[in-house]
Amino acid sequence: MEQIATTNMSSMVKAFPKLLGSVKVDQDILNLCMKIGDEVLGGLCIIGMGGSAIAGQYVQALFNDVSTIPIITVRDSIIPSFVDKNWATISVSYSGNTEETLGAFDESVKRGCHSLIITSGGELLSRHGSLGTITIPSGYQPRAAFPIIFSAVLQIVECILGMEKTDLKKKGHILSKREQEWESSPLAPKEMAKDILESIPLFIGSRHLNPVAYRAKCQINENAKAMAFSSEIPESNHNEIESFDRNNDLPFLPMLLRSNFEEKRISQRFEIISEIYAEEGYTPLRLSMKSDSKIDEMLLMTFYLDIVSLELAILRGVDPNAVDKISRLKEELGHL
Ligand code: F6R
Repeated sequence: MEQIATTNMSSMVKAFPKLLGSVKVDQDILNLCMKIGDEVLGGLCIIGMGGSAIAGQYVQALFNDVSTIPIITVRDSIIPSFVDKNWATISVSYSGNTEETLGAFDESVKRGCHSLIITSGGELLSRHGSLGTITIPSGYQPRAAFPIIFSAVLQIVECILGMEKTDLKKKGHILSKREQEWESSPLAPKEMAKDILESIPLFIGSRHLNPVAYRAKCQINENAKAMAFSSEIPESNHNEIESFDRNNDLPFLPMLLRSNFEEKRISQRFEIISEIYAEEGYTPLRLSMKSDSKIDEMLLMTFYLDIVSLELAILRGVDPNAVDKISRLKEELGHL
C-alpha cells in the first residue's frame, strides 16, 4: 500500500478507500466469532468512545433490521445491567487507553460476557479476560482510522450474526472512483466547505444515515475546530423543528442527508421541513449519493463529508490533525 503520512490528516482521509478492507481478521478469531454466534446469545454490545465508537454505530444501523439479537452501542464506562454472560461485547479503543472503554471492558469481563477487543495498543492490549484481540495498525488519529476499525468490526459482527461477508476492497474501489468524479462536479468538497464556512451546519439524517450525520458533525468539530450539530428524522420533527424560527438569529445551516432507500413517509417529512425551514429563513442544503446499497451510501457520504471537513479546516486556517483539548482533558483526568 502507498505510504500514508499518519501525521497528516489529509493523507489519512485520502487513504480512506485503501484502508477499507486493509485489516484481515485472523481466521482463528473469525472461527471464535462463529462459535459465539452459535451459542445462545442475548445480544451484542459494542463499546467505545469518539472516533472508536462510530464504527459500532454504523454496524448497528446496518444490521438493526435484520439481526435476530439486539445490537447496542455503549459510549460510557458503564454497561446496562441486562448485558450478561449470554452477551458478546466488542470493546474498541484505538489508543487502548480510553478510561471509559477500559472500565466498560473490565465490567464485561467481570460479568462473564464473551469479550472481544479491537485496539492498536495501550492498556487494553494488556488487559486480561478477552477471548480474542484484533490488533490494528498504530500511528493514526483514531477518527482517521475509521475505515480500519469499521472493517474489523464489520467482519466480526458479520461472523457472529452469520451474515454474508461484505467485500470491503470492492467498496474501496467504488469510493476511489467516485472521488474523482466529485472534484469536477458541483459537488466538489471544496465548494461544500465554502457553503458551510460562514454557518453552523446541522446534519440531519434518518435511519442508516443517522450515524453518518453524527460522524460528519464530529469530523467538523475535530478536524475544522468548528461548531456543528446533528439530529435525526423523525425525532427532530417533534422538537428541533420549533427552533427554526426567524427570530433566532443564528447561522444554522440544515444539511439534509437524503437516502436512495428512504421510505415515502420519511421523504415527505424531509420535504415539509425543507419548506418550513426555508420560510423561516434557513435554506437547507440537500446531499445524496448515487448508490446501490445502504452500506455504499453510508461509506460514500462519510468519505465525502470527511473530505469536506478537511477543506473546511484549510479554509479556517486550522490544523486538522491536532486535538489539543481532547488530549488535555484526558491528561488532566489522568492526574486526578
Ligand atoms: C481523536 C478522536 C477521539 C478519540 C476518543 C477515544 O482522533 O477521534 O474522538 O477516538 O477520544 O480515544 P480512542 O479512540 O483512543 O479510544
